Order: sequence, then C-alpha cells, then structure tokens
Amino acid sequence: MTETTPLTFPDGFSWGAATAAFQIEGATHEDGRTDSVWDTFARTPGKVLSGDTGDPACDHYHRMPQDVALLAELGLDTYRFSTSWARVRPDGGPPNQKGLDFYSGLVDELLAKGIRPWLTLYHWDLPQALEDQGGWTSRDTAYRFAEYAQTVHDALGDRVPTWTTLNEPYCAALLGYAGGQHAPGRTDPRAAVAAVHHLLLAHGLGVQVLREAGVGGDTGSVGITVNLSPVSPADPESAADVDVARRVDALQNRMWLDPVLRGRYPDDVVEDLAPYGLGDLVQDGDLDTIGGPIDVLGVNYYFTFTMRATDQPRLPSEWVGAEAAVDTPEGLPQTAMGWEIEPSGLLDSLLRVHREYPGTPVVITENGAAFDDVVSADGAVHDEDRRSYLEGHLRAAHEAIEAGVDLRGYLAWSLLDNFEWAYGYSKRFGIVRVDYDTQERTLKDSARWYAEVARHNGF
Ligand code: FCB
Repeated sequence: MTETTPLTFPDGFSWGAATAAFQIEGATHEDGRTDSVWDTFARTPGKVLSGDTGDPACDHYHRMPQDVALLAELGLDTYRFSTSWARVRPDGGPPNQKGLDFYSGLVDELLAKGIRPWLTLYHWDLPQALEDQGGWTSRDTAYRFAEYAQTVHDALGDRVPTWTTLNEPYCAALLGYAGGQHAPGRTDPRAAVAAVHHLLLAHGLGVQVLREAGVGGDTGSVGITVNLSPVSPADPESAADVDVARRVDALQNRMWLDPVLRGRYPDDVVEDLAPYGLGDLVQDGDLDTIGGPIDVLGVNYYFTFTMRATDQPRLPSEWVGAEAAVDTPEGLPQTAMGWEIEPSGLLDSLLRVHREYPGTPVVITENGAAFDDVVSADGAVHDEDRRSYLEGHLRAAHEAIEAGVDLRGYLAWSLLDNFEWAYGYSKRFGIVRVDYDTQERTLKDSARWYAEVARHNGF
C-alpha cells in the first residue's frame, strides 16, 4: 500500500471524538459537586505542572451546548464523554439531582443533533471522600462504583446506548497508587495491586448492573477501555531485557485483557504479584464477575515501550517490582509529550486483540497527539503535525481491518484542548483549540480534515 492509496472504512464505521469530565468541565464546586481525588491532587503543590487545577478547564459545564454544536459542525456521529462521580454522587453519598441534570441535558443535546452518546462512568475522578476511606485499595469502593453505575443508568439509561465502565484502569491503579504521577499520588506497590483488583471488580459489578438494567442486545453495548502498548525488549538477546519486557507487557496489557476477556489473571501476573498480595485479594467468584461478557473493547493507543533491564530503574514506579528503564528509540518523531509517533504500535495492538482474544469487537476510544500549536495571524491553527498523526494512525487502523480485526470505530482524543492531568493546560490534544483566557473555540486544520474523513468514511 502506498501513502496515497484512498482508503474507505466499512459501512457503519463510527467517527467520533472523546473527552473526560475532569479535563473539560470546570465548575468543580458548583451545583453540589465536591472534591474528587484530582481536585485534591491538583491543589497539592508540585503535582501538576504550573499549578493548574480543574478550574475553569474548558468551562464545558457552562458551554455544553456550544461544544455539542462543534461536534455537529464536524459531522461526527459519536461523542464519548465521562460522568463525574463527584458530581453525580458527591462524596460518594446520595445522588445529586443537579449533577444528573447536567448530563441529562448533555445527552438530550447530543440526541437532538443525531450524535450517539457514549458514556464512560469512570475516567479517574474518584470522590475524595471515598479515597479517604481507602479508595481503590478498599474492596468496598467496587461496590460503591456499582451503586454509582446504577444511579447514572437510572437517570440516563433510557437515552444512552453505549456504556464504558472504566477508562484505562492501568493509569488509575498503577500511576495513581504506585507511580504517584496521578491522583491520589500514592507510591505503595501493595496499594496499587489492591487497586488493580478492585478496579477490575468494579468493572465486573458495573457490567452486571448495566446488564440487569437491560443494556446490550441489538440496541446498546457495554465494555471497558484499556490503554494498550506493545512492549518489546531493547535487546532481544538479553534474557534480562526479555524478562522485563514480559513483565511490563503483563502489567500494561495482559493483566487487564485476560481477566476481562478470559476470566483469569495470567499465570505470570499471579506469580509476579504474589509478593504484593494479589492472591489474598481475589475472592471466590470475583473472576467470574470480572469476566462477564462485554460487547465491545475500547482501545486507547498512544505509544509503545522498549524495555531495558536495569538495577537503577529510571521508571521505578508503576511497573510494580520490575527493575526496568524505557529506551527511547532513535529516529522517530515525537509529540509534545515526548511520545514517539509509531502508528505500527496501534496496528500491533489491534492485531494482538484479534489473535489472542478472538471474536472481540473493538473501537479505538482514544488516539491523538499534543503538539505546540501556533495560532497564525488570521487566527487559524495549521496543525499539519496533528493531521498527519491522525492520518498515519487511521492508515494503521484500516490495515487492521483489512487483516480481519473487527474494528468498529475511531474516536479522536480529543475534541478540545483540555486539562492534561499532570501537565495541566500546557499540552494541547484538541482538534479544536481552546483559548483559556477567553474560552473561545477554534477549529484547527486537523479538525477540518477529520470532518472530511468522517463525511467520506475515509480519505
Ligand atoms: C489517556 C487518557 C486521556 C488523555 C490521553 C492523552 O491516557 O485517558 O484522558 O489524557 O491519555
């Protein structure tokens, strides 16, 4: 295939964009919302670059109709957003009608414009009050998640067809509780392992709640979103590199895919994480709950890892017990995050799901790039770097489909520039620019190009 081959995606392929509550909403203490772990984390000096907090973010809470209009202007058929637990059940307590009303309004606005609402229940913003009771280290949090899922479904289930339980539990558990780069900022490997199991349990319980409420069948779906990264050894001849790559692949990819899609932890994960207490956490029936059927697997893809074994780990943190460093491949262009641009990693991830977990329908629920955008004199953003990034990854997605992957959609990350976690507002992932002084939105060139792709179902 040459770079210029025109590509057409299958009929019915979904084209959309994604966001997450904490990254865009602002209004963190309005209408009854109380702190999530990310509010607390962002207030803690040194955790988030330049001291950015979740306010006002994109002020989406007050500008929601305008943002939905942008989606409509782009002609996208799907919008993936998340609900904020801290808005819907502040402090993890009783439901907050005003919080639910906001999401109800969003769903109505989307439906009025013919856009499918794709709802993610958990994109990392645990109510701080639940963190104070142990957060994801506590089994009880999984049951509280199920209650929260029920509340959201009670309010929106008549209109939302597509449900995701968790976004990237890897980050919530391992960056949040072992690496400390994400909220709640803990650096305790045992806590992280508990968070892994309880997040997976929350997913399984959430699926049960949604199934009992009737989600699924011909009209709707439920799934989970994982961030997959191919992992390879820096030196395939080095047994130590090979082993560390295996271990990181387990923590990054298989520790999520196997329980959800096969109802079991991989044997090497059971062994590697035994010293951190995994065995003591798993109760009878848990893996059946976690492995309950899902309708779609959400895959987020950003980068690959090349691992080198070292007893002086440069990233000691989130890969529990792995003494490993990430090698930076030479010669590959990078995004503003310092992430190598490697569309082949997306293809490899999709092929792996197809090969090792056959029969799993997949949607790319996030893919995109931060670049240091420049606003031209005419106010436009000529982000050829981002456009070309999207094109490269869509070519990889198309190749995956040709190879037999049941890939059903692509959701660009992100609709808007937004609060990029530990980097705050300094990293811009949007296909739409947000001027944080005026809250003005401007379609970047990448958005215009992407709209054409969606319109033609290819390019
Ligand atoms: C993913 C997150 C998303 C965004 C992108 C860049 O890990 O799910 O919220 O921050 O990375």
